[in-house]
Amino acid sequence: MTATFDPELAPRMLTDVPGPRSQELWARDAVFHASNSSPGAQWLRLVLKDGRGAVVRDVDDNLFVDFSSGAVVANLGHAPPAVAQAVAEEAASLMHFFDFATPARAAFFEALARTLPPALQTFQMYSTGAEAVEAALRLAKSYTGGYEVISFHQAWHGRTLGAMSLMGGFPLKRGYGPFAPGALHSPNANCYRCPLELTRDRCAVACAALVDRVYEQSSEQRLAAVIVEPVQGVGGVIPFPPEFLAHLRSLCDRTGALLIFDEILTGVGRTGPMWAFESTGVVPDVLLAGKGLAGGYPISLIASRREVLDAGPFGRPGAGASTFASGNLACAAGTAVLGMLEDGAVLANGERVGARMLAALRELAERHPIIGDVRGVGMLMALELVTDRTSKTPVTPAVARRLMTAMARRGVLVAGAGAVLRITPPLVITEDMAMAGIAVLDEALSEVESMAEDG
Ligand SMILES: Cc1ncc(COP(=O)(O)O)c(C=O)c1O
Repeated sequence: MTATFDPELAPRMLTDVPGPRSQELWARDAVFHASNSSPGAQWLRLVLKDGRGAVVRDVDDNLFVDFSSGAVVANLGHAPPAVAQAVAEEAASLMHFFDFATPARAAFFEALARTLPPALQTFQMYSTGAEAVEAALRLAKSYTGGYEVISFHQAWHGRTLGAMSLMGGFPLKRGYGPFAPGALHSPNANCYRCPLELTRDRCAVACAALVDRVYEQSSEQRLAAVIVEPVQGVGGVIPFPPEFLAHLRSLCDRTGALLIFDEILTGVGRTGPMWAFESTGVVPDVLLAGKGLAGGYPISLIASRREVLDAGPFGRPGAGASTFASGNLACAAGTAVLGMLEDGAVLANGERVGARMLAALRELAERHPIIGDVRGVGMLMALELVTDRTSKTPVTPAVARRLMTAMARRGVLVAGAGAVLRITPPLVITEDMAMAGIAVLDEALSEVESMAEDG
């Protein structure tokens, strides 16, 4: 008999990590699964069986507070009943019929359109973030006739070849080159590690001009797009100043290139408002969404103007389609997610608890010298960990592993395999549970710092 699952009891640890059942099932699974799972999955070797709200349970009945939302997907918490019910009902009537219109898709588009401004009212759906990024590259070439794309150091856009071409210097990129020609990389607005070695109070966002230099010096002036995450997520939770984004807007206006905001991670309330661009004052030509938009069901999409989506080769019949592009179940799940967000209460909770957590993280930084920087907006937060604050040398992956393990042993799951610990709980987390998680982080940091002192 399965014990009742009371998320209120989290964090609750009944065994070490991984517990005996996790160990057994992990070994069975590992016989077949490739050995390239994410570092966190490999380090912890947990086997998870269910989740409710901001809590997930493993097969040993340990209850973990989720400070990761999986891959920043469970914005509305785990297994939200309205989403689960919508998927089950739709699955019982029509699972899939290519990209034909369905009642579920029409309803989803209407709900989505209510969250977006007039310039972003035409949609093309896909199933993964990288697929939407690839399609956006084709779209930009199709609309502008250009072929160059400017992206940013530390950017993350997905694991397909076109998307990887746009990314910063992640080790995961190595070994797959050569990448797509026409990908031009510009320094990012990373205030902790400023490319111009300025400080934020006196910089006047001078780094924005570096993008012009890339355009003037490295490009053939055939720019199709500038693609940017308004807050770089996987690259280290780096919020870009609104002035930087406005500068990109004017570069695109001047050159006729499309400004693409990759909001696959920042969308669906992650930074506070429904979309991160809402608080920047800059409206992109193309918005990319994914991750949390269908509560865990695979979904991604492009939003733009009809004239952009209809132009050139991208506008030809069949050019935007793919097998699972407009999944009926994704649409049903998406409508349920948007319904849950409509009255603003979940977004408000994310913003309020996120602000409280950020303040608590700043207090931790006063006591833990390993914390070099605290960054965040809404429910997208991070600690950048360093060996010392003067050199800002990033800690090694071994330290990141120790910290992640120390937290998991105390019942909190986080993400980030490098020197940046990402803290991205579901927006629905309660303040008490969030603070319990921060207390665990405090203890785990002390443990890791004492180990560093021991060598
Ligand atoms: C900003 C951004 N773009 C694109 C992607 C790729 O999404 P997916 O892993 O669904 O292909 C990610 C994934 O983390 C992301 O954070």
